[in-house]
Amino acid sequence: MIHKASHMTSQALDRIAPSRTNAMTDRAIALRAEGRDIISLSVGEPDFPMPAHVKQAVRDALDADDTRYTAVAGTAALREAAALHFARDLGISVPAGQVIVSAGGKQAIFHALLATLDPGDEVLIPSPWWVSYPEIVRFAGGVVVDLPTTAAGGFRITPAQLEAAITPTTRWLLLNSPGNPTGATYPAAELLALADVLRRHPQVLVLSDDIYAPLRYTGGAHATLAALCPDLAERVLTISGVSKSHAMTGLRIGVAAGPDWLVRAMGKLQSHNSGNPASLSQAGAVAAFTGPQDFLIDWRERFRARRDAVVAAINAIPGLSTPVPDGAFYCMIDAAPHMPRFGDDEALALHLLEHGVAVVAASAFGGHDGFRISFAADEARLADALHRIERALA
Ligand SMILES: Cc1ncc(COP(=O)(O)O)c(C=O)c1O
Repeated sequence: MIHKASHMTSQALDRIAPSRTNAMTDRAIALRAEGRDIISLSVGEPDFPMPAHVKQAVRDALDADDTRYTAVAGTAALREAAALHFARDLGISVPAGQVIVSAGGKQAIFHALLATLDPGDEVLIPSPWWVSYPEIVRFAGGVVVDLPTTAAGGFRITPAQLEAAITPTTRWLLLNSPGNPTGATYPAAELLALADVLRRHPQVLVLSDDIYAPLRYTGGAHATLAALCPDLAERVLTISGVSKSHAMTGLRIGVAAGPDWLVRAMGKLQSHNSGNPASLSQAGAVAAFTGPQDFLIDWRERFRARRDAVVAAINAIPGLSTPVPDGAFYCMIDAAPHMPRFGDDEALALHLLEHGVAVVAASAFGGHDGFRISFAADEARLADALHRIERALA
């Protein structure tokens, strides 16, 4: 029998690392508390205030003493509102009973993977990836299979790459479009080609993380697997929410739509974890999904203008380059020419922090030799940050 010292953590916890995006944001906050002037481009949230009608809905819920436990999977009103959102905004027709509300998209992903992975199950994750995907997979005992993508390839995987990576023990493919940290967005034709591969491998589930779908800057409707291929819908879990689209990151509401068995499985886990998502936040999310959406036109325009300014400024700095992201609010910047000076991209990120800008090293996302910035900051701060980056690398 192995005796464990009191301070020892579990093997599952020891398999994972803390979120490096949160770590960088915490570091920036600590330096600011010391009086340093730090511009944080490390955080993934809109800088706009939450829409007024959503604020009002939260206030009204508080005044109505809507402060009790709700059903674990979310209130009937919010599940209905989320089903409306899936149909209207993503083209996915789903009954409210196949929608679950969680404490952020992050919790929905956590529960989906924990509810389905056994030790050794493989999960295909295109890289650069959102920081939490591989950590959640490892925590659940799964094996991360990296599907590397390149800027030249639009940071998107190909059908041949997918086919070659699938084995009998592949359990999930994680797709994120528009993607964090690259902004890469899959057009319908490419998703249809990936679907042809998936049809040959019925053991593979797909997690389609569409949380940034409302923040796309290229024309046309959003393309997503469950809408394009109803025959695959029984194996697709689509993640969405209000965190990014409605600047509600702090309210912690995410929604997921998928097959009945999976949504129930996630609910079972949630019932012993957080239980229901916060009641006041749920009231706000109902207003977010059912209220006016026209503010998004203005937000998208602001983000698109910032994106264009940031991309132009980055590409004008010697040794830095970035493609134009199609969606979300991040730029994945290649800084390979600067690597001989710094050694690795973590050292480069720390150097930029010393010069007053918090960014996140590409290696945190399974990438290399670069860093991610968020352009969800006001125009003047962004311009200042870009000058600091330029000076730091001169
Ligand atoms: C790709 C992606 N998915 C999911 C999430 C989770 O969002 P939240 O839990 O804040 O709703 C994030 C947040 O950064 C993200 O970037």
